[in-house]
Amino acid sequence: MGTATLEKNDSAGPVDSAENSASHLITVTLRIRRFNPEVSDEPQWQDFTLEIDPKERVLDALHKIKWEIDGTLTFRRSCAHGICGSDAMRINGRNRLACKTLIKDIGPDKPITVEAIKGLTVLKDLVVDMDPFFQAYRDVMPFLITSGNEPTRERYQSAEDRERFDDTTKCILCAACTSSCPVFWNDGQYFGPAAIVNAHRFIFDSRDEAGEQRLEILNDKDGVWRCRTTFNCTDACPRGIEVTKAIQEVKRALITRRF
Ligand code: SF4
Ligand code: FES
Repeated sequence: MGTATLEKNDSAGPVDSAENSASHLITVTLRIRRFNPEVSDEPQWQDFTLEIDPKERVLDALHKIKWEIDGTLTFRRSCAHGICGSDAMRINGRNRLACKTLIKDIGPDKPITVEAIKGLTVLKDLVVDMDPFFQAYRDVMPFLITSGNEPTRERYQSAEDRERFDDTTKCILCAACTSSCPVFWNDGQYFGPAAIVNAHRFIFDSRDEAGEQRLEILNDKDGVWRCRTTFNCTDACPRGIEVTKAIQEVKRALITRRF
């Protein structure tokens, strides 16, 4: 296991501002599972020790490591504000968004473990191959399907009908749910919670006309019936979506054909 350290005085920026904020800083160790197929077939843990404000996020710590200690550290992120869904990772053994996880909330007195989400092939460090995840998403046709002529005005929908799929509109496709699912870990063929959530979003939309088609897609041997209701997905979702409930509603719609 390798170790790298950044001392307080190594930080970039004016000396006086560093001194002003120094009292807020704590020393934390991020224990990161590194993998570089060009160097080794085996992943290995590496410790990085740095000074950071505990009110900062794990993403800030990763940036600090990448920009000031080791530029080879590889991870995805874009918005840094919980919107794009690109920085889901396992932090202290639990799927979270690095940009929404404060250092102070995850026990910084002990090494904080950071590793790639499970069930998808790791390409490098914290970056996984998302293709199977997005293929399952595409397979459920996550778009409005209607027949007939285009209406000349908006399609009306009651507030009550809108409410039926409100929760599943919040998905940001971060894969935290799918990659926390033991069924998905064992067999990557399972559509996974995120694809079902996005199917739910359209199956229960009163304006959509392809609910039956989507239900048949999810009636497949790799569809909703693989779900074992472990609730890992609901616990993992950074948007607070009731993922397991959505899966149950799709199962019920398959049995009753009412949606
Ligand atoms: S349902 Fe939640 S955890 Fe799953 S992909 Fe969407 S936002 Fe991420
Ligand atoms: S960087 Fe966009 S959700 Fe975290």
